Amino acid sequence: MGNVFVLDHPLIQHKLTYIRDKNTGTKEFRELVDEVSMLMAFEITRNLPLQEATTETPVTEATTQVLAGKKIGLIPILRAGLGMVDGMLNLLPAAKVGHVGLYRDPETLTPHEYYIKLPSDISERELIVLDPMLATGGSANDAIHSLKKRGAGNIRLMCLVAAPEGVEVIKQDHPDVDIYLGAMDDKLDEKGYIVPGLGDAGDRLFGTK
Ligand code: URA
Repeated sequence: MGNVFVLDHPLIQHKLTYIRDKNTGTKEFRELVDEVSMLMAFEITRNLPLQEATTETPVTEATTQVLAGKKIGLIPILRAGLGMVDGMLNLLPAAKVGHVGLYRDPETLTPHEYYIKLPSDISERELIVLDPMLATGGSANDAIHSLKKRGAGNIRLMCLVAAPEGVEVIKQDHPDVDIYLGAMDDKLDEKGYIVPGLGDAGDRLFGTK
C-alpha cells in the first residue's frame, strides 16, 4: 500500500496558514505556493540516491557525492498544478516537465483527457505528479492512470492539501504511489471543496472566479 507523508516542516506549516487565509491576494498566494512547493521539493528529495564523485577543490582532490539514479519528471495537472512547477524547478532545475489536462463531464462524470504532453523517456524517470488539492481524487487518479498507460512505473503524488476521501481513492487504485502532503484536512463539503481547505486553488493562483 502506498505511503502517505504529511510534511510537517514548520516553514511549510507556517506558509500554509497564509495560503489558507481568504484575505491573501493573488500575488501573495502565488508566491506562497511557489515557496511551499520548493520546501516540499526539499523534503520529497530527502532520500534520492547519491553516488561518489571526485572533485578538484582549489586545495586538493576530494571525494564528494552527486545525485545518482533516475532523472526526475514533474507532471502538473492543469491548471492549478502549474502553480507548483517553478518552486520545484528551483531545486530540481534539470527536471523535465510534462503536462496533463483533464476535465470531468458534469453529466456522466467520465474523465476526459483534453491535453497530454510528456517527456519521451517517462518510463526511465521518477515522476512527481503535482496537484495542489487532492479532493475527490478523480483528477489525480486519472492522471496517474494516463501516465501508467504510457509506460510510467515510478510515480509519486505531491499536493498542498488533501481530503481523506481523495487519499483513499489513490491508495486503493494506486497502492504503488506514495503521497506527499502539506496537510491532511477534515473532509469534502457537498460541492467537493476541501474543508477547511483554501478555496479554489486555480482561481486563487490565477485571479479568476
Ligand atoms: N479543488 C480546489 O481547488 N479546491 C478544493 O477545495 C477542491 C478541489
